[in-house]
Amino acid sequence: MSTFHINSKKNDFSDTILMPGDPIRAKYIAENYLNNFKQINKTRLMLAYTGYYKDKKISVMSHGIGIPSATLYVRELITEYNVKKIIRIGTCGAVRDDIKLRDIVIGLGASTDSKFNRIRFQNHDYAAISDFNIAYNAFLLAKKINLKIHIGNFFTTDSFYTDQNMLDILKKYNIVGIDMETAGIYSVASEFKAQALSICTVSDHISKKESVSSKDRESSFNEMIALSLETALLI
Ligand code: HPA
Repeated sequence: MSTFHINSKKNDFSDTILMPGDPIRAKYIAENYLNNFKQINKTRLMLAYTGYYKDKKISVMSHGIGIPSATLYVRELITEYNVKKIIRIGTCGAVRDDIKLRDIVIGLGASTDSKFNRIRFQNHDYAAISDFNIAYNAFLLAKKINLKIHIGNFFTTDSFYTDQNMLDILKKYNIVGIDMETAGIYSVASEFKAQALSICTVSDHISKKESVSSKDRESSFNEMIALSLETALLI
């Protein structure tokens, strides 16, 4: 079978999936963390794999950049491929002084400048929230292994380059991470009765104009993958 954007067989996916934005990262996770994995999609190079992590069947698929891309994949995965649990693993920007480059942040909820949720929610404000069970398990695990995380409100933007005025407001409202997908993923997951959580590493501190080198990007990414895979075992 295939959907508009995914060309995989009905049972190719696990009900639990990790979703980075970048296809190369999806490949990296499969090659470095999964046993007996196989590639199950390459349409538009949005690579997807299914394999085993400590005996649990897990899929990994990239979702691209932005709400339109991420949500069409999430929707098709849930409605056509029976995916139920989605952990987005990505990078995000930060504005708070106490949040540093490479820190791990978890989006308990996500505000947005996108109209995506308003269009779907008849112009009312939709509180886009993560799944409590996944968030709770990720939190407990991080505590157990002494991994520093920040949990709170994300800001999902349609525009990567945010103006200074908005950055000041995001800081004032204690936003923990700025990304381009989470608010959409959370609402689509809710609509179709699936669970979702975003776990991101801070790749750029926007106020301080700092960004992670490509070498450090990999090691911070590994911490996030490990946390996400171990969380996937518990949910
Ligand atoms: N803004 C939006 N999305 C992002 C950023 C950012 O600064 N960094 C990583 N994803």
